[in-house]
Amino acid sequence: MRANRRTAVKEGKEYQYTIPSPTHYPFQWFWDSCFHAVILTRLGELEAAGKELESLLTWQSKSGFIPHVIFWDRSKVNRSPSFWHWRQSTAALSFLPFSPKPKITAEIQPPVIAFAVERVFEQTQDRAWLKRLLPKLTSYYDWLQRVRDPDRDHLISIITGFESGIDQSPAYDQALGIKPDRQGDAAFVFKRSHHIPLINKLLCYHPLLIKNFAPFFVEDVLVNSIYAQGLASLARLAAICKETSTAERLTAKASRVTEALIAKCWDEDVGLFWNLDGPRERHAKVKTILSLMPLILPNLPKAHVTRLAEHLTNPEEFALPHPIPSVAGNEPSFTPDISVEFHNERPLWRGTTWVNINWFLVHGLRQHGYGKLAQKIATKTVDLVTRHGFREYFNPITGEPGTLSARNFSWSALAIDL
Ligand code: GLC
Repeated sequence: MRANRRTAVKEGKEYQYTIPSPTHYPFQWFWDSCFHAVILTRLGELEAAGKELESLLTWQSKSGFIPHVIFWDRSKVNRSPSFWHWRQSTAALSFLPFSPKPKITAEIQPPVIAFAVERVFEQTQDRAWLKRLLPKLTSYYDWLQRVRDPDRDHLISIITGFESGIDQSPAYDQALGIKPDRQGDAAFVFKRSHHIPLINKLLCYHPLLIKNFAPFFVEDVLVNSIYAQGLASLARLAAICKETSTAERLTAKASRVTEALIAKCWDEDVGLFWNLDGPRERHAKVKTILSLMPLILPNLPKAHVTRLAEHLTNPEEFALPHPIPSVAGNEPSFTPDISVEFHNERPLWRGTTWVNINWFLVHGLRQHGYGKLAQKIATKTVDLVTRHGFREYFNPITGEPGTLSARNFSWSALAIDL
């Protein structure tokens, strides 16, 4: 964590953040930073944990939006030939020599921030810090509701796969028009996912235009589970700051999101949650880890928890030798390792095991009384990291990270919080 720590200056003030990996990710990413704050808290580095989150918040816009990547060190931007920095930002003409270069993206990532702030506060009990952060957090979650829920069904939408953090997951193949016969074609999958930000840019990131005219508009189960969890954290933080009416409003909102997930995304026949695709809200029926994410919600009814746990213990699906695969083992798109690179980029989340998802689901299972299953997954996760180091992802069948998995990957240190 210390080796990946960076400092930067904005408007004369110094900020600290942690890069996800020196080999692949030299900037600050939103949900990574939230995980880093949890890890730093666990390590007793409380000041660093607080600063990690403050440097994210310093890029919050007046509307409440917080970007998913901050390019603190612009000198590292030019290395990527896929121009994703430009595609995923508002700066339309920045490739011209004298126009301003983007410092941030125009996309979000799963809203883990209120949960991370709560974890830091639990240790520091620093009320002054919390009071400073609370209005910013409230404005962020209000932005998500106001801007990203145009149909007002309580579920927020994402406008690219990059916004869920599980970028090229096959859960988005339907939206991207990727047919099963092209699912193994890494370059094709990668190119498809990179078209979308360009379309959003042309539509000026306007949610209603995107909803009606762009191919990618998804009410995502992973994002909304984390959204509901974050709203509940934020409600508790508001109560600590004696903001009673805000706390009540947010608690009610968290329940509405959970209810909407159950009403609209649950498939009783299969026993999983599906994403809602496009304005017609078609279920995207691909078994991936996002279908299991409502397990992180404490008020998920027992009946749903039982059905989800069945998938986690099924050796054909998610109970592979090194769980939890990001895609069920018996899906046609399941790819246990990544062997092809395309302009230094890799199609991620199509089968490999990731420590952050295990961390979410281990804690989720424990709170629902599945301590034994949780412990089994936790032990296997720690074993992967102990054996191979803090790698970005692992092959769920062999446990090997594979040659293309980023090294010294910060969030894999969540293994200490299992
Ligand atoms: C990859 C992951 C994304 C993460 C980023 C930085 O793009 O898919 O979730 O935030 O790397 O680690």
